[in-house]
Amino acid sequence: MNKITSISSLEHDFLVNVFDKTKDIKSNWTNLEQIGLGKTICLIFWEPSTRTKLSFEHAAKKLGFTVLDFSPDQSSIMKGESLEDTLKTLVALKVDGFVIRHPEDQVSKKIANLLPDNVFYINAGDGNHAHPTQAMLDIFTMGEIENDLTKLKITILGDVNHSRVIPSQLALLNKLSCHDVSFMGPKSMISEKFRPLIEDSSSNCLTDRNILFVLRIQKERFKENDAVDEIDFVKKFQVNQEFLDRTGFKGHIMHPGPMNIGAEITTDVANSKNSVILSQVENGLYLRAALLSLIS
Ligand code: CP
Repeated sequence: MNKITSISSLEHDFLVNVFDKTKDIKSNWTNLEQIGLGKTICLIFWEPSTRTKLSFEHAAKKLGFTVLDFSPDQSSIMKGESLEDTLKTLVALKVDGFVIRHPEDQVSKKIANLLPDNVFYINAGDGNHAHPTQAMLDIFTMGEIENDLTKLKITILGDVNHSRVIPSQLALLNKLSCHDVSFMGPKSMISEKFRPLIEDSSSNCLTDRNILFVLRIQKERFKENDAVDEIDFVKKFQVNQEFLDRTGFKGHIMHPGPMNIGAEITTDVANSKNSVILSQVENGLYLRAALLSLIS
């Protein structure tokens, strides 16, 4: 297994290895085995990124890889070179592995098929389809909150329809037998395949939940007929102190980032003692180092 396109393509044992290796790397971060020495990794991000790109870069350098940062808009793609020819060119330049973010849904499958068997690949987000490493780091973080994931009661709040994180997260939770997941927000943001749905943030509706996983409105992925009443969303669903008091939520708050402060969440809640948002970011560094160690 050296190509990570989606969670569904991964074996349960491999996922357990990833989480064990992440724990190991987290406790030995200052003294990692240099498994990347002599190998080159190329980061290609067609879409903006802070967390994913820089954590992969930092993890890869920490493991001894040479890291090439490929900027599509400064490359010969701008002269009409295809994705296929770009990848062939980089393989000819002795790149051993790729981390790629791309706006096209399911392009990860095409990329995995284009690359030779000995070249590794990690999907860093493709369109609305998948973001497998985000799901892994989120569930690793949930495992630090509750070791027995089957006990977790999770509510996902916000723009589920445009999220590539949630399909990967649900697939991974399902593989790990965590089934108590509900959704919260307006129907316009949460289609019928995501149920049960809490449509109003009425009193004490979240008292039994352990995790509130908050999503921003991902306008960059809106299609022609997509619309959202942002003012109404903020009024009913913004995660602020009054929302927490009203819904009775006392568990941990998560967000994959980036946050739109003042929209889906407020600064005080994002920075509160129950927030593990920065732990997610930190664990992303260790998890991506673990993944590189296991597949390169
Ligand atoms: N969560 C996430 O993918 O963040 P970035 O877009 O900053 O990488």
